[in-house]
Amino acid sequence: MPGKIREILHHPHPVLRQIASPVEEEKIKLPEFQQLLADMEETMLKKDGAGLAAPQIGVSEKIIVIAGRDKKQMFLINPKITRRSWAKVIGEEGCLSVIDSRGHIIYGKVERHKHITCQYFDKQGKKKRVQADEQLSRVIQHEIDHLEGILFIDRLIV
Ligand code: NI
Repeated sequence: MPGKIREILHHPHPVLRQIASPVEEEKIKLPEFQQLLADMEETMLKKDGAGLAAPQIGVSEKIIVIAGRDKKQMFLINPKITRRSWAKVIGEEGCLSVIDSRGHIIYGKVERHKHITCQYFDKQGKKKRVQADEQLSRVIQHEIDHLEGILFIDRLIV
């Protein structure tokens, strides 16, 4: 199902500060929901993002897409971090929703847990679990923050 490019909301849009609602599991297989996933994927790819959370297109639900290799995107529905390493790492982040007055993405350093374990439902509605480190761990933490109304600029290390 081809996705449509959706408008991305920018800070300080209030939807970006809402706590997103969990998705009802029975809803996952419905065509309207699959269309939303396709739209999120298309929008992320078009904007060259590493990930996108549904609130960024104005949908306050717990849905994330993360860019993978060979057009294999990862969809995380109702994601929940179940383990976090004590070890943390500092790295640079940007966000499609955080731009300067000229429309350019702003970058900054953020500290994240080095390793995490995350439980979620995939786009078929199957319960999954992923152990992530490095870039994937960082992107998952960044995107899950969006579902809690948190932006990376709230966590900047100065
Ligand atoms: Ni972001």
